[in-house]
Amino acid sequence: MNSTQWSIISTLLIFLLLLLPYGISIDSIASNQTIKDGDVLVSSRKHFALGFFSPGNSGKRYVGVWYNKVPEKTIVWVANRDNPVNDTSGLLAINGDGGLVIYGKDRKVPLWSANVTLSSPNNSMAKLLDTGNFVLFEKGRQRNLWEGFDYPSNTMLPFMKIGLNRRSGFNWFLTSWKSLDDPGIGNYTYRIDPSGFPQLFLYKGQVPLWRGGSWIGHRWSGVPEMTPKFIFNVSFVNNQDELSIMYGIIKDLTFSRMVIDESGIIERSTWHEQGHQWVKFWSAPAEQCDNYGKCGPNSNCDPYNAGQFECTCLPGFEPKLPHDWYLRDGSSGCVRKKGVSMCQNGEGFVKVPLVKAPDSSTARVNMSLSLKECEEECLRNCSCMAYSSTDERPGGTGCVTWHEDLMDTRTFTNVGQDLYVRVDSIELARHAKKSSGSLSNKGKLAISLTSIIVFFLVISIPYWSVKMRRKDKQRQNPFSFGVTTPSIYLDDSPSRTDPDDSKLRSDLPFDLSTITAATKNFSDSNKLGEGGFGPVYKGVLNSETEIAVKRLRKNSGQGYEEFKNEVLLIAKLQHRNLVRILGYCVQGEEKMLIYEYLPNKSLDSFIFSETKRVFLDWTRRLEIICGIARGILYLHQDSRLRIIHRDLKASNVLLDASMNPKIADFGMARIFGTNQIEANTNRVVGTYGYMSPEYAMEGLFSVKSDVYSFGVLLLEIVSGRKNTGYYLDNPDSNLVGHVWDLWKEDRALEIIDTSLATLGESYPIGEVLRCIQIALLCVQEYANDRPTMSTVVFMLSNDIAIPSPRKPGFLLKRSNYTSGDISTGDAIFHKLCIMHCNKSSLKN
Ligand SMILES: *[C@@H]1O[C@H](CO)[C@@H](O)[C@H](O)[C@H]1NC(C)=O
Ligand SMILES: *[C@@H]1O[C@H](CO)[C@@H](O)[C@H](O)[C@H]1NC(C)=O
Ligand SMILES: *[C@@H]1O[C@H](CO)[C@@H](O)[C@H](O)[C@H]1NC(C)=O
Ligand SMILES: *[C@@H]1O[C@H](CO)[C@@H](O)[C@H](O)[C@H]1NC(C)=O
Ligand SMILES: *[C@@H]1O[C@H](CO)[C@@H](O)[C@H](O)[C@H]1NC(C)=O
Ligand SMILES: *[C@@H]1O[C@H](CO)[C@@H](O)[C@H](O)[C@H]1NC(C)=O
Ligand SMILES: *[C@@H]1O[C@H](CO)[C@@H](O)[C@H](O)[C@H]1NC(C)=O
Ligand SMILES: *[C@@H]1O[C@H](CO)[C@@H](O)[C@H](O)[C@H]1NC(C)=O
Repeated sequence: MNSTQWSIISTLLIFLLLLLPYGISIDSIASNQTIKDGDVLVSSRKHFALGFFSPGNSGKRYVGVWYNKVPEKTIVWVANRDNPVNDTSGLLAINGDGGLVIYGKDRKVPLWSANVTLSSPNNSMAKLLDTGNFVLFEKGRQRNLWEGFDYPSNTMLPFMKIGLNRRSGFNWFLTSWKSLDDPGIGNYTYRIDPSGFPQLFLYKGQVPLWRGGSWIGHRWSGVPEMTPKFIFNVSFVNNQDELSIMYGIIKDLTFSRMVIDESGIIERSTWHEQGHQWVKFWSAPAEQCDNYGKCGPNSNCDPYNAGQFECTCLPGFEPKLPHDWYLRDGSSGCVRKKGVSMCQNGEGFVKVPLVKAPDSSTARVNMSLSLKECEEECLRNCSCMAYSSTDERPGGTGCVTWHEDLMDTRTFTNVGQDLYVRVDSIELARHAKKSSGSLSNKGKLAISLTSIIVFFLVISIPYWSVKMRRKDKQRQNPFSFGVTTPSIYLDDSPSRTDPDDSKLRSDLPFDLSTITAATKNFSDSNKLGEGGFGPVYKGVLNSETEIAVKRLRKNSGQGYEEFKNEVLLIAKLQHRNLVRILGYCVQGEEKMLIYEYLPNKSLDSFIFSETKRVFLDWTRRLEIICGIARGILYLHQDSRLRIIHRDLKASNVLLDASMNPKIADFGMARIFGTNQIEANTNRVVGTYGYMSPEYAMEGLFSVKSDVYSFGVLLLEIVSGRKNTGYYLDNPDSNLVGHVWDLWKEDRALEIIDTSLATLGESYPIGEVLRCIQIALLCVQEYANDRPTMSTVVFMLSNDIAIPSPRKPGFLLKRSNYTSGDISTGDAIFHKLCIMHCNKSSLKN
């Protein structure tokens, strides 16, 4: 071979190599080309691919579109859903009769066709776009002849529409696959129902399963998680031509999809590049109250109705079948209270806040009315049962009125619409009285003087007699409704007491000599540590029972009676996630608390220890997190007491022999009346770093300050770092601020404890992210934004969608303060305390 031949060959090779990439990534076919089974079209920026595939374990062949760059084949669209090819003889082509066609072995009769009549078949092309849309068009024409996005399968992609073309009646909606092996048309659909005030629905056949509600300006009323600034920008269209919704993406390259799966769950997820998996961040239906009509007509489903039945009747209504209701079956719903006149008889409206407004399929809408005009409009028409605004945004207008039973109302925690329910004058007065604290700004309720006089003169006598009769009835009827709401029977309810409980009760006061003997006269070798109010010693009673003795400092400022009452009160708390008090000892100046002894010491000795943290794998950490959450929930919501711990931190969580967490140190706990929401103290106690901003700065504490501390604790457990620690990569921040910064950049996973990764354990990324998100919800700046512990426990134990957190409170920036030797946070804290709270006392 001479050199000329060589150069020709090498030129040819280079030419071929250059050609190769182009050869592979064809994104379109012309009318004289076909796609055989095995060929693949790839969109121009290589986001999507189209070709023949077999789903799951099926051997059948379908033409579909999938993500080109996602390793696990994720099908987003299927052409011949119900007409598979039996073998690999399939062919996709552009054909004179049907536009796009799929042939099997028989090349004459197509298995599937796009049903388009082509005017000039030689001129048409089919192309896979970078959005995942497969389109058929004629060269030189603007409009596509046909597009795959008009026939969605089970997946909604960005730039795909759901809704309807009002002119042609054409409908865009998602339908589930039959099964993982069969992409045929399944039973579940996700669509917009145009009747009344249009709503988003998930149906099984014709039966609604979940209602996303109406479009209220910037979101669906039933999807509180839809924040305007997430990954999507949304365009909603409702005019004479079209009713539709379309999601765009703000961040380029975000692979995001919404899928209705074979079991009828709609789920939104994004591809997580680092984690190599789809991370789900929203799904519906997710909880009991999401199920359509869970509580029947004229009711409200409130999942946050802590420990009680989630179904309640709307104002002015009572359970239709009280017996079923008592047995926690709310499906029969509620009926108007008897003997009520509802037509131009002094009625008014009671506001039900933060709800998904009722099913509006039969509601009437007038977009030009203000809320005030809406109220007048509703009051004028005796068939009007309720009204609401059609736009939740501030200054939003529009009026929707309901004239039939109010179906499927539910409550949300933080965001929701206000629903105004029509009630008669008696009910109106009752509600006005209930909320008399805020009567001044309830002027809108417009209770006219006459109606009040009429109420007292005419109605009060029969009303009282009715009430007396009811009381009598209730006394006799074990199933009577309304006296005592049945409390939830969790296994960790206070009624669950250990068999040896009574023995312990009688042991409550201990003798000083017994304790002195048990702790070897409080010897240093028996000292376990120093708690908030004094040292803690280990002791052994009767040479077998191990105990922990907390010896309160002499000046702890609590009198004997108070001390004893508090101990007796706390001794009644029995929960597997609370350290048990065995008794107390008071003699002269000496006050002591005797606890059960827990061999594994406190949580901080594990999570912040280089050597011991490896014992805590992810499963164990999650169990600890859930245990602590349940313990706090019990403190907050036990029906008899409402206890705020005020000093939750890693060193106040002890671990028993099986690493079950137990909350300890109630030295600073406050007992609230069950109706008390918030209290003020001029003595700020607690531990810096775990304190909520409103407590640290204003001395305001509530259950939400414990929620804040729990959030900090959760982050510490996940990250293995102290909140007050210092970050090389983020020196100006504490842990909360650091996590928040990472969260905003989608890098929250980086804070996870490295020992979890080095264990080689594949911790579930979704779960970890979820915990971080819950923690961030707990440390939000404003107490009202933070969830209650019952919501936290619910979010931890159910795979439901959770809202995105807002900015956390108490971000400390080094630049704010320059000081030499004291740590920044403490310094600022001291400063704040000097400014805001007199007589403040600090710990640690
Ligand atoms: C297919 O048709 C296009 C135009 O319609 C033409 O340019 C091309 O040469 C044809 N290819 C073959 C292989 O016939
Ligand atoms: C595929 O196989 C099924 C069952 O074997 C048969 O009924 C059907 O006609 C076949 N379809 C085609 C297109 O060959
Ligand atoms: C095309 O039309 C046939 C007959 O009208 C129908 O069965 C088929 O479902 C249609 N195909 C598509 C993709 O709409
Ligand atoms: C389409 O192309 C084929 C061959 O390439 C030719 O025989 C036929 O006449 C063309 N049809 C039209 C409508 O141009
Ligand atoms: C759809 O519903 C029908 C009737 O309820 C049932 O027979 C069928 O098995 C369901 N199909 C799937 C895929 O679940
Ligand atoms: C989303 O936002 C981008 C840029 O702001 C805009 O170009 C795009 O049209 C928007 N998409 C939708 C669906 O609103
Ligand atoms: C909406 O209310 C305005 C003002 O009362 C009225 O003029 C208009 O006819 C109403 N529109 C509908 C559709 O009822
Ligand atoms: C009251 O509303 C109902 C239902 O929309 C309507 O049919 C009726 O005409 C209205 N009555 C009056 C007096 O406006």
